[in-house]
Amino acid sequence: MKKLSAVMLPLILAACGGASPSDDPTSEQVGSLPLTIIEPANNPSSAEKVALGKQLFWDPILSGNQDVACATCHHPDNGYAEHIDVSMGVGGVGLSEARISGALVKRNSPTIVNTAYNGIDENSNYDPSATVMFWDNRATSLEDQALDPIRSKEEMRGDQFTEAEILDEVVSRLNANGDYMTLFTEAFGDSTINDERIAQALAAFERSLISANSPFDRYARGDESALTQQQVRGLNAFIDAGCNACHSGPMFSDYALHQLTVETNPKLTNAGIDDNGVDGKFRTPSLRNVALTAPYMHNGTERTLHGEDTKRCHCFLQRRR
Ligand code: HEC
Ligand code: HEC
Repeated sequence: MKKLSAVMLPLILAACGGASPSDDPTSEQVGSLPLTIIEPANNPSSAEKVALGKQLFWDPILSGNQDVACATCHHPDNGYAEHIDVSMGVGGVGLSEARISGALVKRNSPTIVNTAYNGIDENSNYDPSATVMFWDNRATSLEDQALDPIRSKEEMRGDQFTEAEILDEVVSRLNANGDYMTLFTEAFGDSTINDERIAQALAAFERSLISANSPFDRYARGDESALTQQQVRGLNAFIDAGCNACHSGPMFSDYALHQLTVETNPKLTNAGIDDNGVDGKFRTPSLRNVALTAPYMHNGTERTLHGEDTKRCHCFLQRRR
């Protein structure tokens, strides 16, 4: 990562001075994303694999009742996330904020754009086969994550198949489909269809969804005209307030779990569901493309990026000042 340096940004470092809440300044660097991504050694990408992954991502054939696709909750019109507080899966009708009647999923759907970089640190190091996924960091790569929604009763499985049955069912459906036989052969060299290949193709597609050349990235790489004065003031205010203690690195996330003051969504509490994350902690979300993915927080209860909403969930920041 090209870090924002004193030469380029005297303002930022000056502002960083007194307000920084951590003793380790290098962990608070923000900067540009690398323009290329690292792929896991056992899942190199190809145009054919990405095409297969895209087809699978959009196809409800992966769900028990064939009524939910990955794209239902990660739709490009909604920043590859969705504009509803907590997701609704099986049995739902409509998309995003218009979706009704589906099984309640515990959390707000995060965008899958740039998940290729999950786990990246301030030196741009990350291991794509051992990184973190989900609000509680429970999955360890895009490949590892990809089959979870298919197995999840609320998200895609429904109650027609058990967790042990669903992947065999999906594989047999794909095997009975001539188009998929062709797509798997093009992607993997032979027509074998199995869980591992489904996950690999979905992950390869997700790794193709990157946005690493935003105005901020160009600014951090040295193009001072890439941000407006107002945006530079915002960046400095962000650092001055200590946001980068956690929203750090090129993804504006330390990928660590923190306890804020974000309660379980009342919709869930009313349905008798509790969501305590990991001992009350949730992962720092990336702030990339955040303007496109309202509402916010793991419980989806904050509707805007306005100061008051952000402050409510980060009240410890006011205490610190
Ligand atoms: C019913 C809505 C829904 C469906 C369908 C769905 N997801 Fe998700 N997705 C979510 C929610 C909600 C989360 C956050 C869950 C959590 O943190 O426990 C999530 C998290 C993720 C993440 C983690 C992102 C990160 O930065 O940690 C990835 C990747 C992902 N989904 C990909 C997929 C893929 C691939 C499919 C299809 C096989 C899929 N999703 C189907 C709602 C959905
Ligand atoms: C101590 C670490 C920490 C600091 C400091 C911090 N945040 Fe956060 N931030 C988090 C965590 C953790 C979450 C998710 C909390 C949850 O949903 O339970 C979050 C969520 C957010 C979200 C919601 C993003 C989304 O996609 O849902 C925004 C926006 C945000 N923070 C902005 C800021 C700003 C602006 C500052 C500085 C004023 C700041 N944060 C300081 C840890 C931090």
